[in-house]
Amino acid sequence: MKGVVVINFQKNVVDLICSNFKNNDIISLDQFDQRSILKLFRETAQIKKTNYKKLLNILKGKLAALVFFEPSTRTFSSHAAAFKRLGGQTIEHQNPNVTSSAVKGESIEDAAMMHQQYCDILVIRHPVKGTAKKVAEKINIPVINAGDGVGEHPTQALLDMFTIWEKFKKLTGLKGLLAGDLLNGRTVHSLLRGLSIFSGNTIYLLSPKELRLSKEEFELYEKRGIKLVEIESAKQIPKDCHFWYWTRVQKERLSDKNIYEKLRLSFILSKKLVKERAGKETLLMHPLPRVGEIENEIDDDPRAVYLTTEVKNGMFVRMGLFKLILQG
Ligand code: CP
Repeated sequence: MKGVVVINFQKNVVDLICSNFKNNDIISLDQFDQRSILKLFRETAQIKKTNYKKLLNILKGKLAALVFFEPSTRTFSSHAAAFKRLGGQTIEHQNPNVTSSAVKGESIEDAAMMHQQYCDILVIRHPVKGTAKKVAEKINIPVINAGDGVGEHPTQALLDMFTIWEKFKKLTGLKGLLAGDLLNGRTVHSLLRGLSIFSGNTIYLLSPKELRLSKEEFELYEKRGIKLVEIESAKQIPKDCHFWYWTRVQKERLSDKNIYEKLRLSFILSKKLVKERAGKETLLMHPLPRVGEIENEIDDDPRAVYLTTEVKNGMFVRMGLFKLILQG
C-alpha cells in the first residue's frame, strides 16, 4: 500500500511492491523483487490471452491523468490504450509546458494536487530525474513514472523483461547485449536494475566511451550480482546472446550537438552484424524511437521484435499494472 512500507534502499526512498501492487507507485525497478515481477507477468500473460471485450469492467468508472512534459509515441499511447482497454477513461496532457497552467508558472506539485482531485492514478513523464518520485511523495493517488530524465523508465523495462520472459520462459542465466547510449538511456538503467534481481545474468555493454554506463551505476549493478562486461567492438559480441537491446544516442541529453553527430551512429544494428554475430533465437530489441542505428532491412527478421511484440507487450504489461494497482 502506498506510504506504508517505506525503506531506504540504495539511497532511494521508495515503497517496495512486495507482491502487493494495490495503490502503489511505480517509480523504479528498485521497488521490485522476483515474486512481484513474476506476479505482474502472470497477470499480463492472462490479460494477453483474454478477449478485450471481457476486460472492460476492470477499470469501469476510473480515470487516469496522463501528463507528459516530454514527447512520446509509445509510452503515452500504450498507457492510454491500456487504460481504455480495461474500460477506464483518460485525461491527457501532452506538452503541458504549452497547454497547461505550467505556462503561468504553476508548480508541478500544485498541478499534481489538482490531478489527484479528478483522477484515480497519475502517469507522468518529465525531463528532470526524480520528478515522478517527488510527485508521488506529494499526492495520495498512485503515480507511474513514464520516464524521468536520465533516471528510469520502469514500465519500459518491465515490458522488455516480459518480452524476454515470454520467449525464454526464464529471467535467470541470461546472456544479453546492451548497445548505444548507456550513460543517458533511462530504459537501460531500469532494465539493468530489473535483470539484477535475477541470478546468473551476464550483460555485455557496447557503447562509445563517452556514453558508457557511469562508474557509479556499473558498481551498483555489479554489487547486486549481475555480471557486466564492457566491450569496445561489435566483433566482441558473443554469438549466443539471448537478446540484443539496442538504444539510440539521447540527443536531448547532450548539450553539444557536434558530439551527438559524432557519436550517434557509432554502432549500427546491421543485417551484416546480425548474420555474423546473432544466434538463431537472439531477440533483437530496441525501446524506440530508432534514428538510424537499426537498418530497416532487419525489420522482417523473425528475431526483430522492436516494432511488433515488444510494442504490443507494452500495452499488455501496462494493463497488468493498472489492474494490479487499482483493483488488486
Ligand atoms: N520507448 C519509449 O519511451 O518511447 P516513447 O518515447 O515514444 O514513449
